[in-house]
Amino acid sequence: MIQLFHVTKTYPPKSQALTDVHLEIGKGEFVFLAGPSGAGKTTLLKLLFREEEPTEGRILIDGKNITRLNSRGIARLRREIGLVFQEFKLLPRLSALENVALAAEVVGMPRRESQTKAYQLLREIGLRDRYDAKPLTLSGGEQQRVAIARALVNDPLIVLADEPTGNLDAEAADETMRLFLKIRENGTTILIASHDLELIKRYGSRVIALRQGRVADDLHRVQQEGSVG
Ligand SMILES: Nc1ncnc2c1ncn2[C@@H]1O[C@H](COP(=O)(O)OP(=O)(O)OP(=O)(O)O)[C@@H](O)[C@H]1O
Ligand SMILES: [Mg+2]
Repeated sequence: MIQLFHVTKTYPPKSQALTDVHLEIGKGEFVFLAGPSGAGKTTLLKLLFREEEPTEGRILIDGKNITRLNSRGIARLRREIGLVFQEFKLLPRLSALENVALAAEVVGMPRRESQTKAYQLLREIGLRDRYDAKPLTLSGGEQQRVAIARALVNDPLIVLADEPTGNLDAEAADETMRLFLKIRENGTTILIASHDLELIKRYGSRVIALRQGRVADDLHRVQQEGSVG
């Protein structure tokens, strides 16, 4: 689903964020991208949704080379990818429902359909009673769940999350991770950048560790049934 071949990223003038990264992530995998601050985690995610272009190398998503895309191609790529951020990035003036629905409307889903879909997602995610709430009246964990619903509204192949639990307490972080595991059950590929080693230990079935822009480790672990509580 995600393939990187000899990918290098240098930010001008000469900040080398990634060096010769080779990676393959299969459909439906649940993967942590670990590594200390500055290791290149965010850069790698940005390359995958084409916010940045690699300096060298090739990236394939679902078999398609994304290193050469025109703006229509980029728009199509981004429809296949749901994004989740540490700081949620919800629009404060819109309700939870509107935040989720808008993400579908901007790619052409009729308003009614997008609202119905948004409501269904919020219900599944346990926010049925808060669909009308403005983001700032929700807890951090609830806001992140709205953001995850938004990431899912266009049925993406891949969900990319950058430190999604960074602003959450332990309980909300656990809830968020359980939600990601549930999303993965229907075949969505999930890649989570995090430097929270405790969280990674508890939930990571595969951990790709970056160090100074290189893949330092790629550990596959068998997920213990029930170990995630
Ligand atoms: N826009 C930019 N311009 C120049 N250098 C950058 C830019 N973005 C990132 N870098 C550099 O690239 C390297 C990797 O940064 P990146 O943000 O990918 O790391 P990270 O692993 O996400 O770190 P953190 O855990 O702190 O979020 C760092 O040395 C950083 O200073
Ligand atoms: Mg980062």
